[in-house]
Amino acid sequence: MKTIAFTNQKGGVGKTTSTINVGAGLCLQGKKVLMVDLDPQANLTYSLRMNSQRIDNTIYDVLKGRISPDEAIISHNGFDILPSSIDLSGAEMEFVNEPARETLLKNNLEKLGTGYDYILIDCPPNLGLLTLNAFTAVKEIFIVLQSEYLALHGLSKLMDVIRVVKERLNPDIAISGIICTLFDSRKNLNREVVDHIKDYFGDKVFKTIIRDNVALAEAPSHHKTIFEYDSESYGAKDYLALSKEIRNGH
Ligand SMILES: Nc1ncnc2c1ncn2[C@@H]1O[C@H](COP(=O)(O)OP(=O)(O)OP(=O)(O)O)[C@@H](O)[C@H]1O
Ligand SMILES: [Mg+2]
Repeated sequence: MKTIAFTNQKGGVGKTTSTINVGAGLCLQGKKVLMVDLDPQANLTYSLRMNSQRIDNTIYDVLKGRISPDEAIISHNGFDILPSSIDLSGAEMEFVNEPARETLLKNNLEKLGTGYDYILIDCPPNLGLLTLNAFTAVKEIFIVLQSEYLALHGLSKLMDVIRVVKERLNPDIAISGIICTLFDSRKNLNREVVDHIKDYFGDKVFKTIIRDNVALAEAPSHHKTIFEYDSESYGAKDYLALSKEIRNGH
């Protein structure tokens, strides 16, 4: 079983889009996938689920210890989702006095056993307690970077946090993949940024670069993965190629 957190404290870089469509791509290859929405914005949840479809139990109830994770899991066309909700936005404050506050997610995911091939966690855009919980619960971290100016800005802070988690909470953790997203081949700057990211991270950077593709931005409003929404789009081609690279352990 592979456990992977998709992270970057910078907002809007494609973490949620990548979690959903890498997960869906792995599912198309016959893998059993769980996506965990660990963001109080609940973008992953609502990108796949209509607002009108009631969600009774969420990751918040799980972390609170009210229910077990399997009671919150919902399914979507072949893969599973552990949904989030706005309730989670108070988590930092609520859990502050819990002695094991960084291991709440890890302890709960362990209750699920090893039935999944992949557990993918969509992190919120900050380095707070929820992100620490993700880093404590996984073996691998994928950093998602937008192929734009300042892509690497602020990254040293993220690396510091990962180093501290590795020392104190989770010795197994490693940055195992860098995903470059929102690539626009018409912009020379985008190429330069990707070259710069490759200089910095070497062969951790996935060969598949995710292009800027409008279908990827449209699919969530139809509550669909890119493969369900437009399987011929560049977005579908790129995320299928990326998920193959991930499956083959690049
Ligand atoms: N390759 C792409 N091409 C076009 N639009 C994209 C692409 N990837 C993501 N988007 C769009 O860009 C926006 C930000 O993407 P996304 O929500 O995945 O980022 P995020 O890092 O999860 O954001 P947040 O930090 O707020 O959680 C969304 O509207 C999404 O639909
Ligand atoms: Mg997101």
